[in-house]
Amino acid sequence: MTRKLIVGNWKMYPTLADSLVLAASFKKSLEDINGVEVVLAPPTAWLVPVIEAWRHPLPHVSFAAQNVWSDDQGAYTGETSAYLLKNIIDYAIVGHSERRRYGGEDNDLVHQKVQACLKWGIKPILCVGEPKKMIDAEGRIDSYLWQKVAEQLLEGIAPVKADQLSKVTVAYEPIWEIGTTTAAEPEYILQVIAKLKEKLAEKYGAATAGMVRFLYGGSVTADNASGILRYSDVGGLLVGGASVKAKDFLQICRLAAKSV
Ligand code: PGA
Repeated sequence: MTRKLIVGNWKMYPTLADSLVLAASFKKSLEDINGVEVVLAPPTAWLVPVIEAWRHPLPHVSFAAQNVWSDDQGAYTGETSAYLLKNIIDYAIVGHSERRRYGGEDNDLVHQKVQACLKWGIKPILCVGEPKKMIDAEGRIDSYLWQKVAEQLLEGIAPVKADQLSKVTVAYEPIWEIGTTTAAEPEYILQVIAKLKEKLAEKYGAATAGMVRFLYGGSVTADNASGILRYSDVGGLLVGGASVKAKDFLQICRLAAKSV
């Protein structure tokens, strides 16, 4: 069975000093937490200092950018491309709802970023999710919202070649659950992930689509993580707020290591 993937999206929370303290604490404890793959995504400005302070790599821990730019080099003030980051990181979060919202990113740009990551050997973590609840208590699906999420997935990925699909991770993050006090219900998450997998399978065939790992993200905590991780269709978690609380994040990693 594949190990769960736990991604810590530090967002724009920690200062440099906070980041170094967090990293030191993770380094010490993660040495003993095997059976899980962990990806840490500090703010871009702290990627290099954090990685340098990390020194001896742990085989199950790697680093991610929270965003990349699609063109390799050029007049893109304030951006950092996948090309410039290629020897620094293994993963990149792409199309996060906060980038779509504040950075005006559309599916086309997100797709170009996915392509740029793959071109430079970075594994993209493509975020998709709906702005409000799209399945009601009777299981009825709001077809408009579902269509939008399906488009985020297919337009974000396509036309990635089948042999590259296994390098793509999809993070399903219902936007209405990001930064709140509760995660979506596991049944809800499973229903949407199943539908997303179906969509991919329609396009790429079941075997190829089956290589894509799906994460859940949205107010994951040490308390609700195991209830979500116990399902094999959930390949891991994208953790925001709780990822900068060392105790909570490490507990989530422990739970993930146990739920393989
Ligand atoms: P949250 O963020 O865990 O703070 O809800 C998740 C995310 O936005 O990636």
